[in-house]
Amino acid sequence: MPPNATDSTFNADPEANVTNLKSVDQVPQTPVENVGSYSLKIFQSSLNLLAHILIGATVGISILYSFRNGTPLSSTPLHIVLCVIGYQLLMSEAILSLCPHNGWSASLRLVDKRRAHTILQIVGSVLAIAGSIVKALNKSVNWNTLHGQYGLVAMVFTAVCLVNGVASLYAFEFRKYLNGNLSKITHICFGIVAFVTSAISLCYGFDKNSFKNWATPALAYTIIGFTACFTAIIIINPTITFFKKSFRVFKK
Ligand code: HEM
Repeated sequence: MPPNATDSTFNADPEANVTNLKSVDQVPQTPVENVGSYSLKIFQSSLNLLAHILIGATVGISILYSFRNGTPLSSTPLHIVLCVIGYQLLMSEAILSLCPHNGWSASLRLVDKRRAHTILQIVGSVLAIAGSIVKALNKSVNWNTLHGQYGLVAMVFTAVCLVNGVASLYAFEFRKYLNGNLSKITHICFGIVAFVTSAISLCYGFDKNSFKNWATPALAYTIIGFTACFTAIIIINPTITFFKKSFRVFKK
């Protein structure tokens, strides 16, 4: 997925020129139209911060739950640790790394944002797929719960997205055989489906009695809300990119 360009004016030091001015009258007034875009940027950065806090809380609680009986981990806790770190931590950060308002990646060059995205996506996908397989192999009857079915959809789309991501990464080299725009659009679409279905599966996981008995139903519903909230925030940017790219292709 091609990253959006970073906005250099956003990081500029607003005080930088003020120190060279001779009188208060010379202080440049902020144009009215810039006030709106500045507020929007603050709002987008705040949403990004909120997403990080919610990811931390959700992943942290899941890991505490998984290690409640200590080590070695049996198949269910191992499955939770791998899936939650793979999907909700690494894949979330992989998607956010391309967002222009993301804290840790905002000052990275475009090429480094792509590298960070690729590495996080590969490691996250491998852990997530391994986590799902660990639990599926441990069960005698498979895909008989909504939790497992959404997990299966997430796993399939993650695998497709991984292959498709390589095609997007080398879109320029493959341009003779493959329409670059098409591989990028499908990569974004499959990525969104994989990420959203993994979040739905996670919510069904938190709704299981074993988890509610440990965490209390109130906390379980709270982190279901957290999961819905950070998933919605994270998919805003790729969804906008998806529609922009699709309109550009159809306009041609
Ligand atoms: C992103 C997170 C998660 C994903 C993608 C996921 C995915 C899966 C998959 C693919 C299976 C195998 C289904 C089958 O073979 O029928 C499964 C089973 C299971 N998972 Fe998860 N899981 C996640 C998180 C959780 C959490 C947080 C819990 C508990 C708190 C949990 C508890 C279980 C249990 C108890 C089973 C066996 C019963 C069943 O299939 O519903 N999982 N999960």
